Amino acid sequence: MKKKVLALTLSAAMVFGLAACGSGNEGTQPSADPNAQESSAPAGGTTEVANKDKPLVWFNRQPSNSSTGELDMTALNFNENTYYVGFDANQGAELQGTMIKDYITAHIDEIDRNGDGIIGYVLAIGDIGHNDSIARTRGVRAALGTAVEKDGAIDSTPVGTNVDGTSTYVQDGKLEVNGTTYTVRELASQEMKNSAGATWDAATAGNAIGTWTASFGDQIDIVASNNDGMGMAMFNSWSKANGVPTFGYDANADAVAAIAEGYGGTISQHADVQAYLTLRVLRNALDGVDIDTGIGTEDDAGNVLSSDVYYYNEEQRSYYALNVAVTAENYEDFMDSTKVYEPVSKQLDATAHPEKSVWLNIYNSADNFLSATYQPLLQNYDDLLNLKVEYIGGDGQTEGNITNRLSNPSAYDAFAINMVKTDNAAAYTGLLSQ
Ligand code: BGC
Ligand code: CA
Repeated sequence: MKKKVLALTLSAAMVFGLAACGSGNEGTQPSADPNAQESSAPAGGTTEVANKDKPLVWFNRQPSNSSTGELDMTALNFNENTYYVGFDANQGAELQGTMIKDYITAHIDEIDRNGDGIIGYVLAIGDIGHNDSIARTRGVRAALGTAVEKDGAIDSTPVGTNVDGTSTYVQDGKLEVNGTTYTVRELASQEMKNSAGATWDAATAGNAIGTWTASFGDQIDIVASNNDGMGMAMFNSWSKANGVPTFGYDANADAVAAIAEGYGGTISQHADVQAYLTLRVLRNALDGVDIDTGIGTEDDAGNVLSSDVYYYNEEQRSYYALNVAVTAENYEDFMDSTKVYEPVSKQLDATAHPEKSVWLNIYNSADNFLSATYQPLLQNYDDLLNLKVEYIGGDGQTEGNITNRLSNPSAYDAFAINMVKTDNAAAYTGLLSQ
């Protein structure tokens, strides 16, 4: 909590340092990319808007310092039509931790597989420099009592292995159920980054569970993961066959379906609301209407969101969707993860909201959540909002792989960006400012 207040103060202070950026020199930079579109004049008629003044939305990876988490307010205030769309990472992380704790409590009689009095868990970490990943690691540790404070916040450092309980990044937790006190131990955790550098890597998680179980498998009572991609890799390669509850995050369709087969649970980050907001803020900016249109205020087609699914933080220029726990009790309502959210599913009129073109990238085309859940949702909403979106998939490792394909920003009316690394906003805004 203290850290949040500090971050807010810092970002407030930074806002004043913004004023003049961008050179105002738009247009014709030489294009080295043979795939770049020559010129697609936006269908609704062209007005000469400088690239630096075009609507820009950051999504899923919030511009921020990857070591401190401090928001990059320069990037978030790039121009007056710049926003971030994500979800409330702390609320979701707390939900995930609580979901796991509740499961342990409800299954206390059978959870300790080897009967040593220790409830052991392993944790797959997505990206040690990603706010969402850090929050989830903290949420699990906080709920299970294994958290240790460092500089006023919960330490989110991976422990490597901690079978003997001596790691200083975590502590043994104590959980009291029905008058009996149990020990909870984080037996192992590591960042699932492959040798090429891609984070949140499912295959790496599948290998890690193999290594862990080979040396201390009988001590593992719970498997936790920062996301479903890694969680499902571990479930499929080990926990399903061994009946060990596994918990992820994202509510991807395959993970939700696996709840029927023993997957412990997951968290929906309301990707259906986020994908809508991602494109909706661009639509509104392009239409020159109030940014709240079709969001908190009903639009001409009847689209509107209620405050129980999102909120807007004006100071951070950020929209945050709220999370929902998905467990054996309610998973049947979440089976179709790519279905548009009904309250915002109405087609906009093409005369009042003419087609506009959007450049949008996904940092890693192999990311389970973004490719299996988020992008299909975007593709459903782009039609409803009359946006012609060009989807660019990155390799998850090199920003240049993506920025190379933004060589002709003048061909687009607006931009939606999902960075490889949250510190790299300037690599994009630099191109838009040329
Ligand atoms: C998702 C992860 C995903 C990551 C990509 C997170 O919000 O939960 O599954 O890999 O975003 O940035
Ligand atoms: Ca045990």
